[in-house]
Amino acid sequence: MNEAETTAIRVEQTQQSRLPQVDFNNLKFGQILSDHMLVAEYANGHWADVSIVPYGNLSLSPATSALHYGQAIFEGMKAYKFADGTVSVFRPDKNNERFNKSALRLEMPEVPEELFIGGLKTLLDLDRDWVPNTDGASLYIRPFMFGTEAALGVHPSDSYKFIIITGPVGAYYNKPLRLKVETHFTRAVEGGVGFSKNAGNYALSLHPTRLAQEEGFDQLMWTDAIEHKYVEEAGTANLVFRVGDTIITPSADTILHGITRRTIVEIARHWGYQVEERKVSVKELVDGIENGSVTEAFAAGTAATLTPITELGYEGKRYILSDPTTREFSNKVLQYLNDLRYGRIEDEFGWNL
Ligand code: COI
Repeated sequence: MNEAETTAIRVEQTQQSRLPQVDFNNLKFGQILSDHMLVAEYANGHWADVSIVPYGNLSLSPATSALHYGQAIFEGMKAYKFADGTVSVFRPDKNNERFNKSALRLEMPEVPEELFIGGLKTLLDLDRDWVPNTDGASLYIRPFMFGTEAALGVHPSDSYKFIIITGPVGAYYNKPLRLKVETHFTRAVEGGVGFSKNAGNYALSLHPTRLAQEEGFDQLMWTDAIEHKYVEEAGTANLVFRVGDTIITPSADTILHGITRRTIVEIARHWGYQVEERKVSVKELVDGIENGSVTEAFAAGTAATLTPITELGYEGKRYILSDPTTREFSNKVLQYLNDLRYGRIEDEFGWNL
């Protein structure tokens, strides 16, 4: 928003907080939503009507373009509560950047920092009591935007809604992951939309994921679209492996460039590990598991945090990884990240905002 477009945020507080009904000791991911949400409207080339209102249903035309043609993107972030009550969001600037890259790819308007981060801060001030103060729990933040034009022609919507909802969460995965290496279905292809956080990327994963779950896996490990020879990412998170003192994470234009992945790469480099962001073939991975050189593997994401991978299924064979409790790097980096995000150690990178 440039100055002329800046709109003060209108705040309408709930008359009846739902907070007393929340069991903070039993938080399931994404099922409890906080009292308020931020809503902004885009029309005639600019953002306006920014308001914070009680969380509630939307009223939409059945012809709303996003419902038909999928002009819909989102982000995932987390806010943490320090022991002194400070509420801090982890690297929201990176989410704002990625959101705008997704917007560009889907021909949607950018959301400026003043609205994305400034609006979020105002929302968090109001709902600060919803941020859990227990270890392992946080406030999940879901900004999203979709095309609202009520018209059935295929073209960019002329109007959009940007909304932020939040809710207290515990772990997304409550146990280590068994992943099936997917060699038939495809998540992303070069030149496509795999790098963007758009709703359709997740819709297309549901059917192959269900098939893998019927075979006894929790999630997929996606491979490249052309040869199904290189691993790319897991269903809702990026992949990180350890071989000797080298930390390896698959890299490709097609992956979702996770902020947790980036953070781990930066910490590992800072600690003096060799880090490789490169193509990782399925063969390299399964051979490495068999000969014991792949000592650690985990999924890294905002929701997933760091979830150990304990089993890989590939071409009918199961490959078993080490006991997660013995994994030195994974456990050390998770502990460090938690200490940083809960404000227990100095934030030497300036990541808490
Ligand atoms: C996140 O990690 O925040 C995500 O957006 C993954 C999600 C689909 C649960």
